[in-house]
Amino acid sequence: MTSYKELGLVNTREMFAKAVKGGYAIPAYNFNNLEQLQAIISACVETKSPVILQVSKGARDYANMNLLRNMAKGATEYAKELGYEIPIVLHLDHGDSFQTCKDCIDNGFSSVMIDGSALPYEENIAVTKKVVEYAHQFDVTVEGELGVLAGIEDEVQAEKSHYTQPSEVIDFVSKTGVDSLAISIGTSHGAFKFTAEQCTRNADGILVPPPLRFDILKEIEKKLPGFPIVLHGSSSVPQEYVKIINEYGGKLKDSVGIPEEQLREASKSAVCKINIDSDGRLAMTAMIRKTLAEHPEVFDPRKYLAPARDALKKMYMHKNIDVLGSAGKA
Ligand code: G3H
Ligand code: 13P
Ligand code: ZN
Repeated sequence: MTSYKELGLVNTREMFAKAVKGGYAIPAYNFNNLEQLQAIISACVETKSPVILQVSKGARDYANMNLLRNMAKGATEYAKELGYEIPIVLHLDHGDSFQTCKDCIDNGFSSVMIDGSALPYEENIAVTKKVVEYAHQFDVTVEGELGVLAGIEDEVQAEKSHYTQPSEVIDFVSKTGVDSLAISIGTSHGAFKFTAEQCTRNADGILVPPPLRFDILKEIEKKLPGFPIVLHGSSSVPQEYVKIINEYGGKLKDSVGIPEEQLREASKSAVCKINIDSDGRLAMTAMIRKTLAEHPEVFDPRKYLAPARDALKKMYMHKNIDVLGSAGKA
């Protein structure tokens, strides 16, 4: 058993309380490798932002859980070395079972998500409650989910979205004891969040997605005043990166994300954690494609990973400062 406290990490309780009160959201960035982690930590230290490092099941399979856990420990030391201590959470993203959550809790994670959103309501309650009972013994915080997001990714798939029903949230939170609740109000996983038919086009021909359901968010907030709410699927799919990818041999058609102004608005509410993964994938791929195309002689991975890491850092800083409002809150 390794406690997250030995690794220099914190759980989400205090950071969420401050974020809800302060009208901003904590960035939850997924990582799978060294360059992503360096970019996240240096961006968050430079902007003095608290941060949640997210590890998905796909990341555990790709990178090995022990390595990721020790990278998070290294991240706390790296932040100090950079000159400013920021609160860092190591979070399991989309935990699929009690066993996966327990495994992470026993191995140094300070926060876990149990995603029972695809289960029948009573089963979601049962598995979430079981995870909470185990996690709280070790002061690990738990995120549950009600409602289903649309979008297709490697490990997280749902063809259709079902918005969270505000009538269920009080019952779910009180029966499970979760510390935060992920909801479905129109965000969606991946880089292709909406079909062209679901969108309109602006004057430049860019797809404009349907707006988030702020009415549902408001109703949920009314039912659970001050309770931490989480938004998954919150990448904005920056068109500048899609363009670079397509210019240098990629084929991303009709990629569309959540407009940043809507995320900024959500951050001011009880939404206190915003999950961003796909935007990092796009920034990294764009810079790698560009560098390799412009410098065909390059074969040292550092030569193309360094510009990718720089682009990532810049993007995370922008999110913290201009979108989530978490800059200066650490
Ligand atoms: O919401 C899920 C994340 O974007 C993780 O995706 O399973 O491909 O690592 P992944
Ligand atoms: P995006 O695919 O929009 O980045 O969402 C990531 C996410 O929700 C991770 O849990
Ligand atoms: Zn997610």
